[in-house]
Parts: sequence; C-alpha cells; structure tokens
Amino acid sequence: MICVDTIESLRAQLAQWRRAGDRILLVPTMGNLHQGHLKLAHEAKRRGGRLVVSIFVNPMQFGAGEDFASYPRTLERDRALLETAGADLLFTPDEKTVYPRGRAGHVEVSVPGLSGELCGASRPGHFTGVATVVCKLFHMVQPDLALFGEKDFQQLLVIRRMAADLDIPVEIIGVATEREPSGLAMSSRNQYLSEDERQRAALLYRVLQGLAEDLKLGEADYPALEREAARRLSEGGFAPDYVSVRRAADLSVPGPEEPDLVVLAAARLGKARLIDNLRVER
Ligand code: PAJ
Repeated sequence: MICVDTIESLRAQLAQWRRAGDRILLVPTMGNLHQGHLKLAHEAKRRGGRLVVSIFVNPMQFGAGEDFASYPRTLERDRALLETAGADLLFTPDEKTVYPRGRAGHVEVSVPGLSGELCGASRPGHFTGVATVVCKLFHMVQPDLALFGEKDFQQLLVIRRMAADLDIPVEIIGVATEREPSGLAMSSRNQYLSEDERQRAALLYRVLQGLAEDLKLGEADYPALEREAARRLSEGGFAPDYVSVRRAADLSVPGPEEPDLVVLAAARLGKARLIDNLRVER
C-alpha cells in the first residue's frame, strides 16, 4: 500500500494507474477504523479497481464544543488494517494541505434544505463542512466510484446531492450499516461509552426496529410513533435529540401512503452522541 500526504504525490500515482486503464475507487474516512469502514473497503475492492482511502479529521465539520480535539487518532493501527483490507493507497493530508489559507474565507459547499434538518439542526454547519471536504476530495482524487455508509444516511444524501448539483462525474455507492452482535451500529464514537453504556446502547437499534415494525403494520400517525420511540429511549437512559420518520428519497416529511421510508434517530448516551437509522419499505 502506497502512503502519501500531498496532493502532488497523490495525483502522480493516480495518473499512472489511470494510464494503465485502472478504475479509481475512493473511501473517505476520518480514521480510527472499525469493521464498518473495512466493509466499505471490501465492497470497493469487490467492484474492481485501485482503492484509495483517505484519512482526514476534518475540522470544518465539527462545531464549537464538539469532539474535534479528542477525536480518536490511530494512524498506525489504521494503516495496518487498510494494508490487510487490500487498499492500494492511503492519503493522509494534514490541515495545511486541505486548507492552505486556513478555513476562514475558504469556499464553502452547502446543500440547502437537506443540511438544515435532523442532524443539521443540532449541528449547524456540520453538513457544509462535510460537503466541502468531500467535494475537495472528489476533485483531488477524481474517483470513478466513491463509497459511503448508510449509517450516516443524511450525510449520504447530502453528498449525492452535492455531486449531482456540481456535475461531478462520480458514482456514489451506499453500503449497509455494519453492526455489533447486539445490533449497535459500529462507530468511532462508541469508544466514548463506558462498558455499562455500551450494553445499553443497543436499545437505539431495538427502538428503531420497533418503530419500523409498526410502520410495516400500516401505522401512519408518525408524530405519535416518534414520541413513543423517544419516550422509550429516555426511559433507557438516552437523551434523545430526534427520532423521525422521513421519506427515504429526500428526507422530506412523508405522506400517509409513502412506501419508501427511513426512520432516523440521534441520541446522547453519556459522552457519546449516537446516530442510527433503518430503511422501511412497505
Ligand atoms: P467517518 O465517520 O470516519 O466514516 C467514514 C465512512 O464510513 C462514512 O461513509 C460512514 O458512513 C462509514 N461508516 C461509519 N460507520 C459505519 C458502519 N457501522 N457501517 C458502515 N459504514 C460505516 O463520515 C465521515 O467519516 C466523514 O464525515 C467523511 C465522509 C469522511 C467526511 O469528512
């Protein structure tokens, strides 16, 4: 696996691969890799091509008072995992490389509408930070294909819209959420949980499953279902941020007959803010 940290050396290597006719696949990450990230890498390799994984803890997508400074950075371990996963190139730019003139005054890519809802409402500016850095990574790497986890469902839709509206010729693939045996969605932020909290954390998935079952049975009083799910989370020791039933296509509020739904939730448990979602087709 080739490791580079400058845009010049990244481009030089990619040009060689492109001349040889190889497709370029990109998996952007913030590191501290777990099985969820590795699933994206495996899905990418399965499709064939040269796999580029980026690791960059993007300051622009963290709000004041969020965990940018304490976000776990485990580069040596990540490198070894990616080597085993068959990644061809690891790109680890530093902040100066990504934001050479600093972040103030940098061009921002914002996706209106979608970015202000749900996680965007409680994390103002977060999705602009995500869309901006992913747009930059798309221009640095110019991948044929990029893979993102459905665990961050809203992020996936924001990135799809950004690439479509800016005519970036990349195919975006969503990959199903990798879970612990308990059902807890794998996340770098699970590390913030104590042993006791980790045991209780799987309630988030169970509550979403319960909500999904009710929807499949034809329940259509979404606000009542959302309130009940939030109540169950509070009872289990979570501080819910939101539980919401939305249209899967665009996260708009669904009509009673909508067949393609997604239920999404964000809730704090101890120091961790956990998110999860489930698609519901009916
Ligand atoms: P990060 O949280 O490191 O996640 C990198 C990618 O892994 C994202 O596409 C995310 O959805 C996916 N992922 C995380 N947990 C997963 C799981 N349990 N199962 C499947 N996929 C999972 O998301 C980001 O970084 C950043 O916002 C980024 C897109 C890199 C932009 O900075």
